[in-house]
Order: sequence, then C-alpha cells, then structure tokens
Amino acid sequence: MNIETTQWVGKIALALPGSIPVFEKLGIDYCCGGNRPLQEACLLAGVPLEEAVQALKKVNEGKGFAETVDWDQKTMSELIDHILEKHHIYTREQLIRLKKLAAKVRMVHGAHHPELIRVDEIVQLMAEEMDGHMTKEEEQVFPYLKAVEAAGNRKEGVPSPFGREGEDTHPLRILMWEHGMTGEEFNELNQLTGRFTPPPDACNSFMGLYHGLKELEQDLHQHVHLENNILFSKAEEANILD
Ligand SMILES: [Fe+2]
Ligand SMILES: [Fe+2]
Repeated sequence: MNIETTQWVGKIALALPGSIPVFEKLGIDYCCGGNRPLQEACLLAGVPLEEAVQALKKVNEGKGFAETVDWDQKTMSELIDHILEKHHIYTREQLIRLKKLAAKVRMVHGAHHPELIRVDEIVQLMAEEMDGHMTKEEEQVFPYLKAVEAAGNRKEGVPSPFGREGEDTHPLRILMWEHGMTGEEFNELNQLTGRFTPPPDACNSFMGLYHGLKELEQDLHQHVHLENNILFSKAEEANILD
C-alpha cells in the first residue's frame, strides 16, 4: 500500500497490521481516534509527521516489525472468539488486580503524591464501566453478530433486535462511544502520571500499578481496534447499523 498523510489512521492499522506497534511506540491513537488523517493524528500526539511516515514505510516494505495476523480476512465469529479469549479475560483479570492495587497505593502514598487520589478514582470508575461494557458485548451484541453471520451463510435474513433504535442509541454506536470514553479516561491517567512514569521514591506496588495500567492501555488499543475498525465495520457491511 501507499502511505498517504491524508489516510485515516484506523484504515492504515487495518490495511497494514504491522503498523500497530509503530503507532503504539509513537503514542498515536489508532483505535478510539482512528477516524482522523495521519497528519492530524501526528499533530495531536506531538510526533513529527515525517518520522511517522518513514517508520510506516519501513513496515510497508517489510523492513520493520513483523506482520501480525490479518484480522480483516477472518470471519466475525473468529474475531469475536479471539476478542473474548485474548482481551476480555485479560481485561477482567487486570481490572480486579488494578482496582485493589490503586486503592492500596493511594492509601500508602496519597499524602506525598496527591495525583494518586484521582488515579484511584479513575481506575475504580473505569473498572465498573468496562465490566458493564464487556458484559453487553458478551451477552447481547456478540451473540447477535454471530447469529447474523450464521444466517448469512445459510442465505437467510435475520431480523434486527436493534431495528427500532435510532442512530445515536444503536447498541453498536453506544459501544463505540464507550470506547471513546475509556480512551479519554486513559488520556487523563497519562497526564496525571507522566505516561505512567513512577517517581524515584515509588515502591514495588506503586511501580506495579503504573506498569499494569500501561499494559492494560496497550491491550485496550488492540482490543478497541479489532472492535471499532474491523468487527463493527463488518457488522456495518451486513447492514445491521441501518
Ligand atoms: Fe470488547
Ligand atoms: Fe468494546
């Protein structure tokens, strides 16, 4: 593919999966904020456009990071099973751990590092929101998408249980909006913590909290990319967003 500065970042991530580690490394949002041109995304991330273009060209020519799985070629069922196994189980485990850790680190170090009070508040809120969000995907949206795909394979139509929903209240749009909200919460965490850099006096729990949050954020970028840019686009092609 040609790397153009006017291409949407989410589309580049989709067409060239090897670009994802480049975006991660440069701090360019390719998931929640994937629907903006590369030049604008670079500006927002404070990354020189030329640096990003060169790194992407390298990947494109096969000299950079190894290609990852081309999820765009997979079925919705395969994607969903991967999202559940790889991302939902991990996210739930991490959130249980990080909730406890954030409360503990706030209690011990909050007096000297007041930012930990807000960090803990965000972690508790985010954990609750993400749990509800993933339950909605697991119990309502994903089983429905699988049913749509299975019916399509049998050349049958499936009535949409979301049919009466308006544009803004459609369950898929709400899920995308919630992805954006989690992205905003992580932006605030990044600002509060200097991109999860522990201070010199941080103990192991403090370092563990920042490290765990950083890992969760990276995993979330891939998780949201698979849902927003690939799974929900496939759903759109199946006309269930009408
Ligand atoms: Fe998910
Ligand atoms: Fe999601």
